[in-house]
Amino acid sequence: MKQVAFGKTGAKVSEMCLGTMMFGKRTEEAEADRIVSYAFEHGVSFLDTAAMYGDGACEEMVGRLLAGRRSKFFLATKVDGVAYADITGSIDKSLRRLQTDCVDLFMIHWPQVGMDPLEVMRALNDVVRAGKTRFVGCCNYPAWLLEHHNAIARANGWPRLACNQIPYNPVERGAEIEVLTQAHATGVAITVYRPLLEGILAGKYDPDKPMPADSRATWDDRVKKWMTKYDAGVRFLLNFAHERGVTPSAVAVAWLRACPAVTCPIIGASRFSQIEEGVKAFEFSLTAAEREAISNAFDADLREDAGGKFPEFRRKLDLVAR
Ligand SMILES: NC(=O)c1ccc[n+]([C@@H]2O[C@H](COP(=O)([O-])OP(=O)(O)OC[C@H]3O[C@@H](n4cnc5c(N)ncnc54)[C@H](OP(=O)(O)O)[C@@H]3O)[C@@H](O)[C@H]2O)c1
Repeated sequence: MKQVAFGKTGAKVSEMCLGTMMFGKRTEEAEADRIVSYAFEHGVSFLDTAAMYGDGACEEMVGRLLAGRRSKFFLATKVDGVAYADITGSIDKSLRRLQTDCVDLFMIHWPQVGMDPLEVMRALNDVVRAGKTRFVGCCNYPAWLLEHHNAIARANGWPRLACNQIPYNPVERGAEIEVLTQAHATGVAITVYRPLLEGILAGKYDPDKPMPADSRATWDDRVKKWMTKYDAGVRFLLNFAHERGVTPSAVAVAWLRACPAVTCPIIGASRFSQIEEGVKAFEFSLTAAEREAISNAFDADLREDAGGKFPEFRRKLDLVAR
């Protein structure tokens, strides 16, 4: 597993980040332990969690799993709110649950309408000065908002947001409008969630068969919607992988790795059988022409499309307090 520069922080991380969102939800602790250990044995030391996953239960599990080996990992977590008290209070709770006195990366999970960037950056600066995180970052930020925050950081001599964690895959292409360009130009690390479109790009779902009972499709309606809307692209990707004798995950991950703005895809294995494939996916590469062919197999007019609230935030005139 390659080690890559984490933006301009000077830190290096494994190119694969392991997402833990399913730990405690669908993944029992013993299984999660095997996943983390397998990943670590194969060079993956970057771990992503969040205060909101399982309302703290995920962080608690990660804390137990890393006990005795915390220093070997680059550990990232997130805060839900954007008020000063949310940010400074949340880190203390996260540190307790994670059984550590300092995380490597602390991120704002979502922008919120009416947020005050000066307050956010002051709070994050105080968290860094207190030695509770090495670096700070954000998720789901439009490019202009990230720059706005970092202009405040520059003006005050505070640590800047070092990364933006976003959804990006051949279906969810909203980040191509400005987020990737801005991050690339300014040395902001991009960590990518939903690299496998919740398993669709891993070939978990067959468009001609009912959704498997043990899948995320049982509670996330978007899976069915995406399967219907992007059927042609998904079939193209599955066939492309088949012809080359690699897994569909390898193609989806290679599609991300071929983008110079992407720092780390976050692989969210929910069971041990998926982690082996996830790690191996990083051995495959695409040429520029192959990447373009895959991009074109998905309807390019839908670049604005991305799940949830991203990139809808880009259109909110009242997103920040003035
Ligand atoms: N910052 C944010 O707002 C945000 C939002 C979402 C996620 N994240 C982070 O990003 C991580 C990854 O996100 P994600 O879980 O949505 O990513 P994903 O990789 O697109 O989806 C993971 C899901 O794909 C399926 N899968 C994975 N490997 C597979 C394989 N080899 N074969 C078949 N199916 C496979 C599993 O579904 P089943 O469980 O159904 O088997 C798994 O739960 C999360 O763990 C979390 O750390 C951050």
